[in-house]
Amino acid sequence: MTTCLSTTTMLPFLCFLLFSFLWSASAHTHEDFLQCLSLYSEDSNSFSKLVYTPNNSSYLHVLQGSIQNSRFNTTATPKPPVIVTPMNVSHIQATIFCSQKHGMNVRIRSGGHDYEGLSYVSVLPFVIIDLINLRAINVDVENSTAWVQAGATLGELYYSIAEKSGTLAFPAGACPTVGAGGHLSGGGYGGLMRKYGLAADNIIDAQLIDAKGRILDRASMGEDLFWAIRGGGGNTFGVVVAWKLKLVPVPHTVTFFSVLRSLEENATKLIHRWQYVANKLPEDLFITAYITKINSSQEGISTIQAEFPSLFLGGADRLLPLMQENFPELGLVKDDCTEMSWVEFVLYNSGYSSNSSLDVLLNRTPQYITNFKAKSDYVKKPMPEIAFEGIWKRFLKVGIETPRLVLVPYGGKMDQISESSIPFAHRAGNLYKIQYLLLWNEQGKEASMRHIAWIRRLYSYTAPYVSKNPREAYINYRDLDVGMNNIQGNTSYKQASIWGRKYFKNNFDRLIQVKTAVDPDNFFRNEQSIPPLSSS
Ligand SMILES: Cc1cc2nc3c(=O)[nH]c(=O)nc-3n(C[C@H](O)[C@H](O)[C@H](O)COP(=O)(O)OP(=O)(O)OC[C@H]3O[C@@H](n4cnc5c(N)ncnc54)[C@H](O)[C@@H]3O)c2cc1C
Ligand SMILES: *[C@@H]1O[C@H](CO)[C@@H](O)[C@H](O)[C@H]1NC(C)=O
Ligand SMILES: *[C@@H]1O[C@H](CO)[C@@H](O)[C@H](O)[C@H]1NC(C)=O
Ligand SMILES: *[C@@H]1O[C@H](CO)[C@@H](O)[C@H](O)[C@H]1NC(C)=O
Ligand SMILES: *[C@@H]1O[C@H](CO)[C@@H](O)[C@H](O)[C@H]1NC(C)=O
Ligand SMILES: *[C@@H]1O[C@H](CO)[C@@H](O)[C@H](O)[C@H]1NC(C)=O
Ligand SMILES: *[C@@H]1O[C@H](CO)[C@@H](O)[C@H](O)[C@H]1NC(C)=O
Ligand SMILES: *[C@@H]1O[C@H](CO)[C@@H](O)[C@H](O)[C@H]1NC(C)=O
Ligand SMILES: *[C@@H]1O[C@H](CO)[C@@H](O)[C@H](O)[C@H]1NC(C)=O
Ligand SMILES: *[C@@H]1O[C@H](CO)[C@@H](O)[C@H](O)[C@H]1NC(C)=O
Repeated sequence: MTTCLSTTTMLPFLCFLLFSFLWSASAHTHEDFLQCLSLYSEDSNSFSKLVYTPNNSSYLHVLQGSIQNSRFNTTATPKPPVIVTPMNVSHIQATIFCSQKHGMNVRIRSGGHDYEGLSYVSVLPFVIIDLINLRAINVDVENSTAWVQAGATLGELYYSIAEKSGTLAFPAGACPTVGAGGHLSGGGYGGLMRKYGLAADNIIDAQLIDAKGRILDRASMGEDLFWAIRGGGGNTFGVVVAWKLKLVPVPHTVTFFSVLRSLEENATKLIHRWQYVANKLPEDLFITAYITKINSSQEGISTIQAEFPSLFLGGADRLLPLMQENFPELGLVKDDCTEMSWVEFVLYNSGYSSNSSLDVLLNRTPQYITNFKAKSDYVKKPMPEIAFEGIWKRFLKVGIETPRLVLVPYGGKMDQISESSIPFAHRAGNLYKIQYLLLWNEQGKEASMRHIAWIRRLYSYTAPYVSKNPREAYINYRDLDVGMNNIQGNTSYKQASIWGRKYFKNNFDRLIQVKTAVDPDNFFRNEQSIPPLSSS
């Protein structure tokens, strides 16, 4: 709440003034910066065609093309004087070098899904390193591995795997437009999480360019830095150019099912029961719960609907008895189930029909264009029914557009991986994760303020029922409200430890050590990047 970013919606005018001031004060800086780029790249002619300033007619198209949250797509949103779209590592090295020389803040962008827009918004004079041109994918079926460049999307990755194999997959997120660079830097989960852990648990090598411009792989960066980049958050340790992934086996046929229940159909009781069941199910079964506000048949009246979109790694014949045994209350019947391949599940689960062409996975434009604000929580003890009823009451409040609650079951493999294995610390003991999500299309400052205030109040309301000391949160659902931030990005150790322990628990200490060793000058920084010790 102390940053310009998180209050942009409340004080856009002030932010705008502040930024105009910084922009004009830095006009000199970024001209010099551009000159530096042309001097220090080995191929300045071809490189200049990869550099955009507001003077280039395609600047806005490139800037906005990867913006996922309309909240940071306004005229008042601070914009970069320069965007660089490197084709190879030498372009990244030149950008790092010149940014250091001319005091530009760097924001690295892969898919642009950052919930708070940190990959493309800064109040400092800044340059975006947009990895849109670095998205090669190389799948090695024989060894069940793949190299994926950071600018590739998960959809592109799933497409490339499916081209070569119907029984290999990667345990990352559901949404095809999400970028590999940011997603794996923050953990990354999807329907295979209970069987294979997070995306970051399945990284076996990486290519990274650090603040000194060195090109490092796992062997040359060492195990501390390799540990840190697998979940410690992006824009902190360097530019990830590519990841090497361990692919995982999936059966030819998986089953997607979903069950819808209204309040009248005991939705609240089912959600309550789900808390006891979903995290103890066999690892092949991933049952999420999704709560929305819908229009009821009575005109002008809203109601609550619970949905249970789910994945089973096997056929419906094996699934039905399993459900009868473990979760009979859901009343799953064969008609609720659709058998398909794993990649068809990815399509289906993100709103396409399972028989649509796989090509839709290659579409990078946002699937849903809307303003949103989200928060996350971890739950270690089932919440009482009355707590859910209180949430429904808030959902039904007039003047709030589209609230959602997404409950993601833990357990399975997540319980078996140690808290310190990678920076992502939310392991055994968590029944599930909550994502609170609020989407709205109404334009303007007042609408933003009203919606953001609503989700903050909801978050206060649920405090007694969720993890405490720290109240844990998922960094990939970035939320600038969870601690003190510093708009300069040079957050002090004390400030950072507030959100740092929520995101990483005690892994925060090791992240600080790694950061201090590899980037003591805090070159790679944003509002929630790990600071080096020297800046405290
Ligand atoms: C529609 C939608 C669906 C989502 N679904 C899921 C889901 O199913 N599961 C899940 O776990 N999460 C999900 N997320 C959250 C998502 O994982 C995070 O927002 C993630 O950080 C996005 O990565 P990105 O590359 O697209 O974003 P960006 O905004 O490009 O990057 C996010 C952060 O990482 C940094 N960064 C980006 N690339 C690099 C790089 N190459 N090197 C170093 N730092 C880098 C950025 O500077 C920024 O700080 C979803 C988000 C959205 C908007
Ligand atoms: C942007 O404009 C500059 C100056 O005209 C030019 O050198 C550069 O190649 C342009 N960039 C792109 C991506 O076209
Ligand atoms: C943009 O164009 C204006 C006017 O044509 C010029 O003065 C300015 O130097 C240009 N800026 C950059 C960064 O090329
Ligand atoms: C951002 O704005 C551009 C231009 O108005 C628009 O084309 C794009 O769809 C918008 N994206 C989002 C996520 O708001
Ligand atoms: C980067 O690409 C340019 C051509 O765009 C080429 O001249 C240069 O050698 C490449 N550098 C590296 C390190 O691959
Ligand atoms: C599989 O890995 C081995 C050892 O790294 C390598 O020699 C081999 O070429 C790889 N297979 C393929 C198909 O690339
Ligand atoms: C809801 O629960 C009650 C009793 O708890 C039961 O009688 C009723 O059949 C249930 N309704 C549905 C639609 O499952
Ligand atoms: C619900 O109704 C309102 C107004 O009656 C309408 O604007 C809105 O689009 C409807 N929502 C859905 C999901 O049908
Ligand atoms: C996809 O499947 C649906 C039924 O699930 C069918 O109605 C539709 O025609 C199919 N579309 C294509 C392109 O095959
Ligand atoms: C952050 O940087 C600003 C300006 O560069 C400086 O005034 C401030 O003291 C710094 N804060 C910390 C915590 O280092």
